[in-house]
Amino acid sequence: MDKGIYVGLDIGSISSEALLLSDERILSYSIIATGPNPHRASRECLKEALSKGGVSEESILRVVATGYGRISVPFKTREVTEITCHARGSHFLFPRTRTVIDIGGQDSKVITLDERGKVTDFVMNDKCAAGTGRFLEVMARALEVELSKMGERALKAKKGVSITSMCTVFAESEVISLIAEGLEVEEILRGLHESIARRIFRMARRLRVRGEITISGGVAKNEGIVEALKSLFGMEINIPNEPQIVGALGAALLAREMS
Ligand SMILES: Nc1ncnc2c1ncn2[C@@H]1O[C@H](COP(=O)(O)OP(=O)(O)OP(=O)(O)O)[C@@H](O)[C@H]1O
Ligand SMILES: [Mg+2]
Repeated sequence: MDKGIYVGLDIGSISSEALLLSDERILSYSIIATGPNPHRASRECLKEALSKGGVSEESILRVVATGYGRISVPFKTREVTEITCHARGSHFLFPRTRTVIDIGGQDSKVITLDERGKVTDFVMNDKCAAGTGRFLEVMARALEVELSKMGERALKAKKGVSITSMCTVFAESEVISLIAEGLEVEEILRGLHESIARRIFRMARRLRVRGEITISGGVAKNEGIVEALKSLFGMEINIPNEPQIVGALGAALLAREMS
C-alpha cells in the first residue's frame, strides 16, 4: 500500500497544475490548459499527476486548492489564496526570497514575505490585461510570433520602440500601425516587454522590496520580461526550474502542514 500523499492544485485562468508531495519529497506534477471547465481541469490534472507519480487516489490525505478556479474543485480539503501559495512555494524553493513577482494569465502580483515565508504585504493588478500573460498572448498573435519565442526575439533588438497605449486593445492597434510603418518586429517586441516590466516595477515600488526576488507564474518563462525586470530592479531574480508549479507547490506544502 502507498504511503499517504498531499496534493496541491492551482486552477488558474490559463493553466491548471497538480503537485503531489510525500512526507519527504515532490513525487510528481502536471500542467494542463484550464480550458472552459475548471472543474474538469482539476480532475484531469490530478489524474495526470497521480499516473506520473505511480500513486493511487486512495493514498491522498489532504488536498489544498488555489487559483481563481479553486471554488470549482469538489474534492478539496481547503481553499487557500494564490498570494499565500505563491509565497509559500517560492520560499520553499529559494528560502531567502522576500519578494515574489507572480505574473499569470489574467493578473499580476507582487508579494512581500518574512523569513518564514509568511505574507507581509501584496499589490495586485487584476482589473486590466495590460501587464499580464494575456497581453503577451494578444501581442504574439498580432505580430505572428510564437509565444515561447517572443521574449528571446525581444532581446535581439538593441532598443525598444516606445509603446504609448496603456490598454491592451489600443496597444494592439498601435502595434499593427508600427508594423505598417516598417518597424522591426524585434524592436516592437522589446518595447512591449519593457512596458510590461515597467508596470510590474511601478506596482512593486508601492511595497518595501528587499532581500531576494523570486518570479513565478508562466510569464517567468519569458526571458524578455525577466531581463527587463532584472535591469529595472538592478539585481538578479531567482527563476524556478518550472515557474508554473510554484502555486501548486505552495498549496501542497500547506496541505502537508495542516493538522
Ligand atoms: N513557454 C512559455 N514561454 C513564454 N511565456 C509563457 C510560456 N508558457 C506560458 N507563458 C505565459 O504564461 C501565461 C500563463 O501563466 P500561468 O500559467 O501562470 O497563468 P494562470 O495561473 O493560469 O493565470 P492566473 O494566475 O492569472 O489565473 C501565458 O499567458 C503566457 O504569457
Ligand atoms: Mg496563476
